[in-house]
Amino acid sequence: MAKLFNTVKVGAFSLKHRVVLSPMTRLRTIQPGDIPSPMMADFYGQRASEGGLEIIEAASISEHARSYLGAASIFHDGQHEGWKAIADAIHAKGGIAFLQLIHGGRQSHVDVTGGRLPVAPSEVPFDGVALTKDGFVPVSPHRALGRDEIKGIVEDFRVAAERAKKAGFDGVELHAANGYLVDQFIQDGTNQRTDEYGGPVDNRVRFMRESLEALISVYGADRVGVRISPSGEWGGISDSNPEATFSHVARVLDSYEIAYLHVIEPRIKGDDTLHHGHPTVAANYLRPHFSGPIIAAGGFERDSALEVVESGVADLVAFGRHFSSNPDLPVRLKDNLPLTPYVRAAFWGGDEKNYSDFPAYERPVAEDESNVAVDVEAV
Ligand SMILES: Cc1cc2nc3c(=O)[nH]c(=O)nc-3n(C[C@H](O)[C@H](O)[C@H](O)COP(=O)(O)O)c2cc1C
Repeated sequence: MAKLFNTVKVGAFSLKHRVVLSPMTRLRTIQPGDIPSPMMADFYGQRASEGGLEIIEAASISEHARSYLGAASIFHDGQHEGWKAIADAIHAKGGIAFLQLIHGGRQSHVDVTGGRLPVAPSEVPFDGVALTKDGFVPVSPHRALGRDEIKGIVEDFRVAAERAKKAGFDGVELHAANGYLVDQFIQDGTNQRTDEYGGPVDNRVRFMRESLEALISVYGADRVGVRISPSGEWGGISDSNPEATFSHVARVLDSYEIAYLHVIEPRIKGDDTLHHGHPTVAANYLRPHFSGPIIAAGGFERDSALEVVESGVADLVAFGRHFSSNPDLPVRLKDNLPLTPYVRAAFWGGDEKNYSDFPAYERPVAEDESNVAVDVEAV
């Protein structure tokens, strides 16, 4: 059998296959309070499989950490039952549930942060968007974090992990990708600090290390993963030398013996065309620096997923959009069944339609079986 469908050890877990649900913010919490909704539990339960890993959409660790109205968060007691229902739905089918934890940093707006200015490592002009009651709007101006405040955010990560654990999640993923706060510290286009959190890369990863250590203090390293996007451009993020920066990040993460490193590749197309000419990331320079499992994500199709795992460049593949419309994606990939196309218009916000109403693949009934069915009905 192809390696993609073989077992693999990921931290504390023995997974039965290597098709992972990529975290996807779908803006379907109940407002006010970002309460995880019953349709979210349905969605994640439908995508659970025996021994399969699901990484649940980014949950903001505090009110100040929010970026998008309707997105998930985990910082108050009123959210506990909703999160527990999601973890329970996944466990009911024998799945493994990790919750991604996020601080949005400068990708935010005062209307979603409780009136406080968004924060970042440094004040660097940024013209991104946040989602408020008025729709997508330009972000609010941000301010640079004071040193003492940084400790407070690290503590928010720790408390959020405690809440995730209490709700029943098997582990957590630190969102250090896509230009949010941890990424803003790592990359030098957004980090111009002159204290111990800025300057050389070893200083720029300090906030990632401290946040990671906070999560590890709750879960243990073998139940914590980290997501990075070395070639990402979302959130106006940039680095003067991504290869050097993220090789260092990978080495630092390796030293913690975390459960996995989750890497967003440039969007590779089926024909292996590379997005913006970037080389595939894990392939070219991260693998030698990280000895644990690597999850690759970003633009994978069945063939490219089979290949990246077979070649040993990555150990698992996370699927986002295809999983959104194929709740039984691991089976469909294994048996090479057709995929239902995803519906982009329903990605961000809405109800159950084109969210939790995608059926599993229905195999055509063989002629002899259909005859049996008719006979049974006739009895
Ligand atoms: C609707 C939507 C929401 C997303 N939300 C998140 C998120 O919460 N956290 C994250 O790390 N990535 C997020 N992503 C990125 C996906 O996890 C994934 O990396 C991306 O979709 C590329 O993988 P794909 O080609 O398999 O869809 C999101 C993507 C989509 C389409």
